This record gives sequence, structure tokens and C-alpha cells, in this order.
Amino acid sequence: MKRFDYADAFSRNIGWITPAEQGILRGKRVAIAGLGGVGGAHLLTLTRLGIGHFHISDLDRFEVANFNRQAGASLATVGRPKVDVLAEMARDIDPELDLRLFPQGVGPENLDAFLDGVDCYLDGLDYFAIAARRAVFAACAAKGIPAITAAPLGMGAAVLNFLPGGMTFEDYFRLEGQPELEQLIRFLLGLSPAMLQRGYLVHPQAVDLAAHRGPSTPMACDLCAGMAATQALKILLGRGPVRAAPWGQQFDAYRDRYVHTWRPGGNAHPLQRLGLAIARRQLAAAAPPVAPGPPPATPLERILDQARWAPSGDNTQPWHFRVRDPDHFEIHGRDTRDWCVYDLEGHASWIALGALLETIALAATREGLEATFQRRPEAPETAPVVEVALRPLPAGREPDPLAPWIPERRVQRRPLSTRPLTPAHKQALEAAVGPGYRVTWVEGWGGRWRMARLLFRNAHIRLTIPEAYRVHRRIIEWDARYSLDRIPDQALGADPLTLKLMRWAMTSWERVRLLNRWFAGTWMPRLQLDLLPALGCGAHFLISAGHELQGIDDYLAGGRALQRLWLTATSLGLQIQPEMTPLIFSEYVRRGVRFSGEAPARHEAASLAADLDRLLGDDGARRVFLGRIGRGPAAVARSLRLPRERLLQPD
Ligand SMILES: Cc1cc2nc3c(=O)[nH]c(=O)nc-3n(C[C@H](O)[C@H](O)[C@H](O)COP(=O)(O)O)c2cc1C
Repeated sequence: MKRFDYADAFSRNIGWITPAEQGILRGKRVAIAGLGGVGGAHLLTLTRLGIGHFHISDLDRFEVANFNRQAGASLATVGRPKVDVLAEMARDIDPELDLRLFPQGVGPENLDAFLDGVDCYLDGLDYFAIAARRAVFAACAAKGIPAITAAPLGMGAAVLNFLPGGMTFEDYFRLEGQPELEQLIRFLLGLSPAMLQRGYLVHPQAVDLAAHRGPSTPMACDLCAGMAATQALKILLGRGPVRAAPWGQQFDAYRDRYVHTWRPGGNAHPLQRLGLAIARRQLAAAAPPVAPGPPPATPLERILDQARWAPSGDNTQPWHFRVRDPDHFEIHGRDTRDWCVYDLEGHASWIALGALLETIALAATREGLEATFQRRPEAPETAPVVEVALRPLPAGREPDPLAPWIPERRVQRRPLSTRPLTPAHKQALEAAVGPGYRVTWVEGWGGRWRMARLLFRNAHIRLTIPEAYRVHRRIIEWDARYSLDRIPDQALGADPLTLKLMRWAMTSWERVRLLNRWFAGTWMPRLQLDLLPALGCGAHFLISAGHELQGIDDYLAGGRALQRLWLTATSLGLQIQPEMTPLIFSEYVRRGVRFSGEAPARHEAASLAADLDRLLGDDGARRVFLGRIGRGPAAVARSLRLPRERLLQPD
């Protein structure tokens, strides 16, 4: 049995604190409510600092979703009360600790006992436990106990101290009488007036204040503990000035920034009022519409729920599902060639349908099922029907590793990093499309420049023919970050001013013509939507088949290859934007189809088709998909999908 010796265990603190101060810390009593990511780290940090007495509370048990940040969360502790686990961990560091456990959490009935004789309180409560937090801070103020709150924000921490006789928690945050959501917004902005973390929230849908959901990092929890324990040390040892509310501090390790904030009046300060008004507006605009209806309950429902995330041209989702029994359903497609100039003979819809089949096949493996597909030969090609049968996966087959990426995959239409793809990236992507397909890369400054010029010219066709104008009017949802059945304008990749101009122009064809004719109206959109993104990427890629594409089945198979490549890219942290319109206009030219009444546009398309042939150096009849790819953050504005209920067709 190893012997514990307090002086020896904490001897390395000496230097930054004196031996006498170490003795003082040993005599101190600290209360910590909440033992999750922040509270657990507080307890262990303060134990190692040599604090001798703790009151700790938590009513939760550990679960797997705690693993990313909570000191006590591991396979060994899943299902165990947090307060017990943390007590054991702390006692493993200092077996002489005096610990009082409050396994019921904190509330009005035990606050007196929880704060009895306490020298300092550290807040480790869940961000959303706002009522409990207010009660503890109010009790601390009434009893004259210094109280510290440290909030993990992004990859940094913000700290506020409330000292006896100073500004109180309530004076600072002004939560009284506010609805819960408003209280949560006020708490966030009060903690972090500088909002250093806002700029790098790359997956905003992870934040849902109303549903009590938010992302976290282990680094932020560790920083909270380091910063709060330092404040506690200064308070407990009476060392130097301690800044208290309305002063606050935030350190952001990701942005390499540290700020002091000063908000006299707390959330009543004019700057805070302004910030709150902006935050309320942004939150309202950012909230993705939640698909109504119950969550999917059966394997088939879960597969259909995932299947919805298959990509389709302009987010048209040209399909419905009809369920036959728990193991069989049908996909009823309908192409959009009757109104969409980009859906040449239904090809784009067929490719999307192929991507849908691949998505279903992948999602099925997660349910331990194998999906097989049978296209009904008698159904017209404009409205293809595919029968899907689900049966158990053959023994030994695992869920496909691409399946978890289905809902993450999305288009990024903004410029990406110009760093070339690595050989490993290219190898993985080339393998993803399967043996019947090859991937051709257009790379380097020269390649990207040629492609960018070509896309710039191609965009001129798109923006000057009435046939495309009618499509754009139908498929853009204005003033939107998300769209269930179209493309939100914020996902197009243009700046807000250009979007305003486009919106103004697109109310009538006459306006478009006027703008194009007299004001070079196509320049800004072409620059922002085509030229710059085409230069700003790691490479352009072409997926082509080993043989000429002939009928619907060839396009379905091509769509499956595309979806495998796209999901592989997502899994590698790469972003993709399809660049299909040059392929489509060239194909019109190749087939001699008069796709527009505008003769200049048809001539432009002919010359463009020749350039594309030269650039790609291939057989045009084998081309499945053209796009650009590169490193970069995923798009924050994106197309969502119709709810499952809307995609289900009654008999
Ligand atoms: C066959 C096909 C063609 C597409 N063509 C283009 C295109 O030319 N340009 C573009 O920006 N997006 C294109 N897209 C992307 C769709 O607009 C996008 O997948 C859809 O809006 C859904 O959005 P998400 O992929 O972000 O979920 C295409 C998608 C498919 C399946």
C-alpha cells in the first residue's frame, strides 16, 4: 500500500504559493455544484491545488455522450452517479479529503447545507440549469460567499466573479421575469460579451438553445478549470485584486485572443442590449426548421429518414416512397425535364435517383440489412419505379463506414483552400467510385484557371436565357439559410449585396435583361458564383463511366458512384460543389437539341463544348459528373429535406 503524504503530494505547488499558503488552502472549504465537464475538472484541479474540504453535488449518472469532455466519464463509469465517481477520483488524489456529497443535486431544500461553512463556490452546473444556478448564486450573495462561474465557449473559457458586497449575479444577468429562452440568451451574452467563439462555429445546427442542446470541447472545460481555480486561489488567499462583475474575462485558445470586458449594468448596458437584439434575430434566423412528426421508430423508417439526405439537382427531391410491408417499399421517381432546362432528358434526375439508391443501401447496412433494387421495366423513364427489398446482411458483413456521413454531406459553393489533394485523398476517392468508373483530375493553377474561365463563360449562358431564369425563380428560396425543398439563397455563395441585386432583378425577366444589357448584371454573380470558387479549390474532378451512357440504368449506376465519392470526400473533411451545367449544355450541343430560343447562347454553348472536350480530353458520352473539391469548412447555409411524411405516398 502506497503511503499518502499531503506535504509531499502537493510540494510542487510550493514556489507559486508559499508553504503557509498551502496550509491555508488545506483548511478551505469549496462548494461545487454540477460535476460534468466543468465541475468535474474544477474538483480535480482544486484537489491537486490542495484544497482540503469540498461540498459536491450532481444528480446525474455518466453516459457515453459525456466522453468528449467529462473528467469522470469512461466505459468503466457509464451508468454510475457522477458524484460517486468524482468523489472516488478526488480521494484517489487526496485520501484525507473531507467530502460532503449531495447526490440529489442542489435546490432550495438543501442550499443551506450545501453552502454551510463554505469559503468559495464554483459553478459547474449544466449551461441549461438556469433556475438552479440563479438560486445558488442568490444564496451565495445572501451568505457573503464569493462565487465564480466559468463557461466553456468553443475552444476557450469566459470567467465572471461575484464577490460579497459587489454586483450580484441577478444584477448582472437580469434574468428575473424573462422566459427561459431569453434567460439562456442573456446568460450566454452576459458571460461572453466579446463572443470570441462565434466566428468558428462550423456546424451551427448543433446549437439549439430551445432544445437544451449545444456543442462542447474538452479543451474548453480544462481551460475553465484552470482559469476558475486561479480566481479561487486569489480569493481564498486574499492575493491581489480580483476583478468581479461587471468585469469579465474571456480567453479563446483557438483565436489566440484574450479580452477583458466591462459592462456596468450587466445586460442593461447599451452594448449588451444591442448584442442581445442581434443575438435574438440571429437565433431566430438560424434555427433550422425541425421536421415535424414522430422520430423514426422502425428499421424501414430509419432507412427512409436517412434516404431523404440524398442529393438532387436544385434540391428537387424528385421521388416518393410507397411502403408495402416492413421489408419492401417502392421508390416512385419523376424527372423534371418538363420545366427544368438542366434536366436534359431526365439525366440529372436519374443521377440523383442513383444517389438515392446508394444512400438507401448504405443506411440499410446500419440496420443490419441489405437493400436490393429492381427497376420496373414497364414504368415510363420519366417516372421510373424501383422496388426495394430489405433482408438481413450476409453473415460477417459490417455496417458500411460511409453510412454515418449521409446527413453530413452537403454542397459547399464558397471558395475552398487551394491546397492540392494528397495522393491518399485521390486514391480513396478513385477507389470510392468503383471499378466501372474513373476519376479525372483537373489541377494546378493552369488547370483551375482554364476551368474557371470555362465556368465563367458557361455562367453567362445560365444567366442570359429565359429557360434558366424560370428555373432559378422556382428553385431559390430568398432570405433563407435553410430550405426544405429548394436552395436557400445564403447557400449560393454570393455576398449579401449581390444577393439583394439578384433578388431584385429576378422578379421579372425584363429586369434581368435590362440589368444584363446596360449594367453588366451578370458580372458580379459570375465572379462570385463561378470564377472565384472555380479558382478556389484543390481540384476539379470528372467521374466518367467505362462505356458510353445509354439508358436510365447507366445513369442510376453513375449516381451511385457519385454518392460514394461524395460521402468519401465528406469523411475526409473535403467539400464538393457539383459543376454540372457545362456538362449539360455540352450534351445539348452533342445531341443537337435546341435547348434555348436565344441563338447567341446556343452558339456560346457550342464553342464551350469544344473547349470542354479539349480540357477534359475524353469521350463526352461517358461523362457522369463534374465538380470541384477541396479542403474547407462545411457550408453553414444548406438545403434541408422534406419531412419523411411528405415523401411517403399513400396507396
Ligand atoms: C445530379 C445533380 C446535379 C447537381 N448540379 C449542381 C450544380 O450544377 N451546381 C451546384 O451548385 N449544385 C448542384 N447540385 C447540388 C444540389 O443543388 C444539392 O445537392 C441540393 O441542393 C441538396 O443540397 P445538399 O447537397 O447540400 O444537401 C447537383 C446535385 C445533383 C444530385
